[in-house]
Amino acid sequence: MKNLIKRSIFVLKNYGLKLFLIKAVKWPINRINLLKQKLKENRARKKSQEVIQKLKQFNSNNPKETFDFSWNFYSGFIRPMQIKEEFVELLKIFQELNPQYIMEIGTANGGTLFCFCKLARNDATIISIDLPEGPFGGGYPEWKIPIYQAFTKENQKLYLLREDSHKQETLEKVKEILNGNQLDFLFIDGDHSYEGVKKDFEMYSPLVRKGGIIAFHDIVFGPPEYAGEVVKFWEEIKNKFFYKEFIKNKKQIGCGIGIVFM
Ligand SMILES: C[S@@+](CC[C@H](N)C(=O)[O-])C[C@H]1O[C@@H](n2cnc3c(N)ncnc32)[C@H](O)[C@@H]1O
Repeated sequence: MKNLIKRSIFVLKNYGLKLFLIKAVKWPINRINLLKQKLKENRARKKSQEVIQKLKQFNSNNPKETFDFSWNFYSGFIRPMQIKEEFVELLKIFQELNPQYIMEIGTANGGTLFCFCKLARNDATIISIDLPEGPFGGGYPEWKIPIYQAFTKENQKLYLLREDSHKQETLEKVKEILNGNQLDFLFIDGDHSYEGVKKDFEMYSPLVRKGGIIAFHDIVFGPPEYAGEVVKFWEEIKNKFFYKEFIKNKKQIGCGIGIVFM
């Protein structure tokens, strides 16, 4: 209760009455959704062999179809934390780039990772970094590893690093996996604090090749516990590059995807 009051005061002070009221209305809904998600997870966990089979079988090179599958699969078991119209635009650019070396920071339920694997070339190397119980999404438990491995196609290699992206050892592991190659595509959707997103960019952007792409999620101002302060960092760097923004609605709160071309 003390924590709740503290957080309410923090939001009121720093983000104003409008966001506070939105959060107050959304809080019980979010709690119920969390409970529903746990129930879905338990159901899917019991059927994990069937789940793996179905994930392996899915095959499409259509971004919308791939997104819809990830959204609806077992009523939201791997649902991406994205706005469909924005993420589908990113997926179209991803397909045009035809990347071989791909990395995602922040995987959570796995929906974005699923889309990247299914729409990537058959010989792609894909790296996911996600901190167990990390902020802004909570990571994923160990029992989901075989389920996420079932996202891959034919000769793809998927490395699931359940680590803190900000640690030097994690960067070293990524370099070891890349074995002298450079990333074609990097999706930054991990620690959404200003310092967190800045550090991910500073640590991993040097691994992206010239002509490659870095995408950020949550470039629109929103509730601090979801959108963090990505917007602040995004506004600081976007003009240093050729960039694009995908924002479904100018008045929306949070989400939005920004990409920079290296
Ligand atoms: C918003 S979620 C990712 C959502 C996912 N990309 C999607 O759209 O469905 C953010 C994730 O980043 C992870 N995370 C937060 N801080 C991190 C860090 N320092 N290193 C690695 N992962 C981190 C959290 O554990 C969480 O699962």
